[in-house]
Amino acid sequence: MTHYSLGPLLLSKHTVFDTSALSSFERCFRSLPNLPPKPQVTPMENEDPRNGESSRHHQVTKKPRLTQFITESEIQKEFAHHQSGIARINNGSFGSCPGSVLAAQRKWQLKFLQQPDDFYFNTLRKGILHSRTLVKDLINADDVDEVSLVDNATTAAAIVLQQIGRSFADGKFHENDSVLMLHCAYEAVKKSIQAYVTRAGGSVIEVQLPFPVTSDEEIIAEFRKGLQKGKSNGRKVRLAIIDHITSMPSVVTPVRELVKICREEGVDQVFVDAAHAMGSVRVDVKEIGADFYASNLHKWFFCPPSVAFLYCKRTSSSSYVHHPVVSHEYGNGLPIESAWIGTRDYSSQLVIPSALEFINRFEGGVDGIMKRNHEKVVEMGKMLAESWGTKLGASPEMCSSMIMVGLPSRLHVMSQDDALRLRSHLRSNYGVEVPIHYQASRDGEEGWKDNDGLVTAYARISHQVYNTCVDYYKLRNAINQLLDNPQIAQKLLAE
Ligand SMILES: Cc1ncc(COP(=O)(O)O)c(C=O)c1O
Repeated sequence: MTHYSLGPLLLSKHTVFDTSALSSFERCFRSLPNLPPKPQVTPMENEDPRNGESSRHHQVTKKPRLTQFITESEIQKEFAHHQSGIARINNGSFGSCPGSVLAAQRKWQLKFLQQPDDFYFNTLRKGILHSRTLVKDLINADDVDEVSLVDNATTAAAIVLQQIGRSFADGKFHENDSVLMLHCAYEAVKKSIQAYVTRAGGSVIEVQLPFPVTSDEEIIAEFRKGLQKGKSNGRKVRLAIIDHITSMPSVVTPVRELVKICREEGVDQVFVDAAHAMGSVRVDVKEIGADFYASNLHKWFFCPPSVAFLYCKRTSSSSYVHHPVVSHEYGNGLPIESAWIGTRDYSSQLVIPSALEFINRFEGGVDGIMKRNHEKVVEMGKMLAESWGTKLGASPEMCSSMIMVGLPSRLHVMSQDDALRLRSHLRSNYGVEVPIHYQASRDGEEGWKDNDGLVTAYARISHQVYNTCVDYYKLRNAINQLLDNPQIAQKLLAE
């Protein structure tokens, strides 16, 4: 196994962009940037024969000009492996992968099994570099070395939080300096803060995400309050974690404005947890301006489980960032550490070009898919809210391909457990797969009401290319049936 010295570290100042004039809709759906044709590859990577002869000249495959776009029946064929009879309106949790991408994945797997040594020495790293290059161009990063492929957003969060924990442990940060996060940050991220930061002496500041929510300003105001709290008594906010799209409840946040505020307020580092972003909102890491930005590719970008990218802006602290799994490649930079974490199946990373090929069969490519999913999910959300006499939990401009729809108060969802029971009931009795969010009332807040009382629960509906209106009608009818049979609803929630 060859060892490499660390390449020179590039110092870069945090760049702040004034994008406050952009509306939420533009924030989500403006076209992806036009990209420079030649990816940059560091000398270190070029010297490695595993990258192959052509690694220096990797080019992103140009979007082919299709004369004929994918048809509805071809789309349904691509997802024919989905269990039939299930209204699958929860793409948000685990994503989905078309048959053509699964077939490409199988080829990579066989290629490895046919001749593992040749694959390891001549194919793997080259393939991963190609995938990273595609991602680099799609997200408008400066350098392919800013992009690492990892398993998922959970792994990306561990990478970011471990280096913060190390800084506390090494005495670089003071006890009670803090990490700031939204109160509804993803549970795995909260646990990572607990495991890596709190244990090492850091404290946590929670920012309440207003919900239901109708404007970016409501989020910005709460965020500013949280930052002031974090800075009280001379403490420093060492890391702010901002969800680009929160999970539950699901809301697209004004991420660029929030990063800008962090810079103004002297926050050391900003990590954007964008687990749902790639393929559902526009991603331009330079405009967003965070130090770290991670998105899954298996949720909305049609990759098989599991693959995510972690963008790390080049800074003086890059050498502090490591993959949690230490392999031979430890110390060679995060992208290389991540490209070999021991013997395993790397096919989900290698198949990114095939996912992009699938995407480019759609009119407008990824932009077209995002627009169509957004329009459809808003239409279906409104249809459900109208039928149930409720409202959407966030204004349409603050949603991407998922939207929160208020459930009738007569269902009496009064806890997280009730929400989970309702979700299970919809799955087993109606063949509907949809997450349910319980909205606990907060002190001094009235909450939203329908004609019968307080709305305490929301369905998070997703729209992906394989969905049809019938899926949402099934959910609508299932809830209406439960309302027609209050005994069933009562029994279900009393269980
Ligand atoms: C905001 C957010 N962060 C992180 C994750 C974790 O993603 P994964 O399970 O792919 O690691 C999710 C998953 O839904 C999420 O919604």
